[in-house]
Amino acid sequence: PRKIIIDTDPGQDDAVAILLALASPEELDVLGVTVVAGNVPLPLTQKNACIVCELAGLPDTKVYSGCDAPLTRKLVTAEHVHGKTGLDGPVMPDPTMALQDQHAVDFIIETLRAEPAGSVSLCPLGPLTNIATAFNRAPDIVERVQEIVLMGGAYFQVGNITPAAEFNIYVDPEAAKIVFASGVPIVVMPLDVTHKALTNRARVEAFRNLGNEAGRMVAEWTDFFERFDKEKYGSEGAPLHDPCVIAYLLKPELFSGRHVNVEIETGSELTLGMTVADWWGVTDRTPNAMFMGGLDADGFFALLNERIARL
Ligand code: BDR
Ligand code: CA
Repeated sequence: PRKIIIDTDPGQDDAVAILLALASPEELDVLGVTVVAGNVPLPLTQKNACIVCELAGLPDTKVYSGCDAPLTRKLVTAEHVHGKTGLDGPVMPDPTMALQDQHAVDFIIETLRAEPAGSVSLCPLGPLTNIATAFNRAPDIVERVQEIVLMGGAYFQVGNITPAAEFNIYVDPEAAKIVFASGVPIVVMPLDVTHKALTNRARVEAFRNLGNEAGRMVAEWTDFFERFDKEKYGSEGAPLHDPCVIAYLLKPELFSGRHVNVEIETGSELTLGMTVADWWGVTDRTPNAMFMGGLDADGFFALLNERIARL
């Protein structure tokens, strides 16, 4: 199986992504789950990651706590989307599993040094603070990363936290800039893709009817998570942003996109955190990311159902 580190700020959609990965041990070896401040502050993302691992029946999953604030800015959170716990919806028991003692950034550095070069992929589902901190502190690990598959950014779909920016990139644009300039092969799941991974009634009921606890929780999280997008965008359901990252690792053929240059705006207040993607190749800037745009949504939900059913 492919070795991955999931870097996350759960978040209902992060939670579904973690479940999808943990339900797919034949293809994915989750070396660790590293948490970062994002949707909610760090103590809550820590707790939520543990809740999800326990729900998956895998309390031995290694969860590492990371950075509690962006590199240089004040943390911006998204309780308006995810609720005050970050995982609002069903009432869930407090987790009993313990966090690892090691800091997430040290774990990322140590793992990339210990594993064969080019054999570990990073899967960021939140602000890129942990990854950028690791790259800053240990530049030798950069060329050892196999690939980064991340959820973040937007182009034709524009922003969801400001008119120009997507939340994960907006929260820590300096970190995003470091990651996009790193030279590591990057696959980006922007809002352009994730707003095609939309729930609807039939899709949510399918989760609920899987017959297991994980399916019921996914349905209840989605019930909660939907209300924001329904009110805000008038859409039928909720975009399952972060599971797109894991789905790509399992079935890349569900996605389509272009290898383009993507630069991160860090200067302008108006467009802070914008992912400026040269979709039409109008500059001679070197392509640095596979920027996705298309999704087979039925295939995506079929995959999610099949895997969540296994938990
Ligand atoms: C991203 O921001 C968070 O609210 C979600 O978990 C996702 O990672 C979408 O913009
Ligand atoms: Ca997230």
